[in-house]
Amino acid sequence: MCGIVGYVGDKPVLPLLINGLKRLEYRGYDSAGVAVIDEGQLWYKKKQGKISGLELEINGVDSKASIGIAHTRWATHGEPSERNAHPHFDQDYKIAVVHNGIIENYVQLRDSLLADGYRFYSETDSEILVHLIAMCYDGDMAFAIRKALQLVRGTFGILVLSSYEPDKLFAARRGSPLVIGIGDEENLIASDGSALVEHTRDVIYLEDDEMAVVDKKGAKVRTLQDKTVFKAVEKLPFDLTHLQKGGYAHFMLKEIFEQPDTIWDSMRGRLLVEDGNAKLGGLQNCIERMAHSSRLIITACGTSWHAALIGEYLIEKYANIPVEVEYASEFRYRDPIVSRVDTVLAITQSGETADTLAAVREAKQKGALALGLCNVVGSTIARETHAGVYLHAGPEIGVASTKAFTSQVITLALIALALGRMSHLSAEDGREIAQALKKLPDKMHSILKQANHIESIAKKMVTHHHALYLGRGFNYPVALEGALKMKEISYIHAEGYPAAEMKHGPIALIDAQMPVIFIAVKDAVYEKVISNIEEVKARGGWVIAVVSDGDDTCTSLCDEVIEIPHTIQSLMPVLTVIPLQLLAYYTAVIKGCDVDQPRNLAKSVTVE
Ligand code: AGP
Ligand code: GLU
Repeated sequence: MCGIVGYVGDKPVLPLLINGLKRLEYRGYDSAGVAVIDEGQLWYKKKQGKISGLELEINGVDSKASIGIAHTRWATHGEPSERNAHPHFDQDYKIAVVHNGIIENYVQLRDSLLADGYRFYSETDSEILVHLIAMCYDGDMAFAIRKALQLVRGTFGILVLSSYEPDKLFAARRGSPLVIGIGDEENLIASDGSALVEHTRDVIYLEDDEMAVVDKKGAKVRTLQDKTVFKAVEKLPFDLTHLQKGGYAHFMLKEIFEQPDTIWDSMRGRLLVEDGNAKLGGLQNCIERMAHSSRLIITACGTSWHAALIGEYLIEKYANIPVEVEYASEFRYRDPIVSRVDTVLAITQSGETADTLAAVREAKQKGALALGLCNVVGSTIARETHAGVYLHAGPEIGVASTKAFTSQVITLALIALALGRMSHLSAEDGREIAQALKKLPDKMHSILKQANHIESIAKKMVTHHHALYLGRGFNYPVALEGALKMKEISYIHAEGYPAAEMKHGPIALIDAQMPVIFIAVKDAVYEKVISNIEEVKARGGWVIAVVSDGDDTCTSLCDEVIEIPHTIQSLMPVLTVIPLQLLAYYTAVIKGCDVDQPRNLAKSVTVE
């Protein structure tokens, strides 16, 4: 969840670490800290709150240090405070540790360290790591770290800096990502490539149970059992421009507006319009097995889970394969019935979500074909699945997922098309889908042009405390996604339901204070949805509706409408979600919320 960055080279390290933390701040942002070695001694600074607070404290510090580590925290154990911020130190202030993850047996370890006379300064699980390393240190830091890590259960990505060996950074991982950036006479380590890319695009991905010793000349990687491993140097698939706001007020807004391009990037080279088909290079060797699976289980969390629901509808409709959708957090613990005849597809923007990763491991353990649909190239889930497809949506920095969602739906549509064409879907039907896919970017442009209109609706939304989102069929998952966007960035309590479920309970909530956001486009369930709108209006509800262009019925019935162009029913979610993303965005901005870094959230949830 947190962000970790370390540097060793010849440059002044403090500004470099602060800059790296800023690139990682989207991962976690309740407190931050740095530790460097200056004239042979460890020096540190920690601060509660955002990186900018730490930066203010550090500005003007005269330091020649050129090696250091830094951390931005997303608290799991112990409140966000200066005391609990990382790095943590041993009692002699010779060793500093930053940690991402959770040490599950920290209570037992702390009790035994306390009994041995060690004193603790924080309430975190992480602090035990530094005392264990100090306890195991006998003149060889790499050995001490390996030995200490044998004692812990749980997940970790750690960086260790020590004045005992002041020219080296030590890194180790189990479950939490770490990437080494290889530069010229300088090297870096971070929890993701965004903190590295302005220095180098050459990287080495550390695997679970590996440890790296890094100095300015290079990186040596061995397993935690001290065996040599050969590591390939890979290229980061993005550059600095992808990590900048490019004139937009927030990353989220930039990412919403990028979607005509990013969905096209997901289709480029894969969509075969003339053949009415799709070709997915990453699935080439396993698409036959996938097509003949007895069923497909799609597993994911949050927004990716909403995309999975749309995937279920798409694949069942076009490919005739039974699909089940499971929250990854449930799948991993309920001992699911999965076997060699099944395919499990994990959907994840980050490729690092702990629950989704555990679900993938469970599926593999049970003999299923495990596939990944990831955005982050080289991420753990991308590497651990048998095969998969990258979204190619580019780095998503806003904590609220937007462009990853539409690319996930597009990629699922391509998979459904390819699987469908292997069975009963005709070339003609395939061409209709392919042509509709190709036209989506232009249609999205026309929706984005209505941003001002949607902002004006948001101005009326801000006074409300609750909202209902209703949709049916392919647009039911969009209702869930619209509600999630609204609650996570504007803190307005919002719930999504299948529109027809309203009368089974939620209708009791309807009064003039309750905004009800309908997705009421002209599709097979249009008339049913109109009846649901009538039911809300009859009870005085305030109705905002996403409707098809020129729909006079809805315009006269609803209080506010957002008109969108038509596409085939199965691809509607790619368009209907855009107004809901913008509505959440403008509502949050008008309320003065921190859109890119909403409270309590983190971009990549690498803990359970
Ligand atoms: C979306 O806006 C979220 N912040 C969150 O629900 C996210 O989709 C979820 O944590 C899954 O992340 P992943 O796609 O990286 O696995
Ligand atoms: N469990 C640690 C803590 O609460 C690390 C959290 C993080 O990954 O940011 O400090």
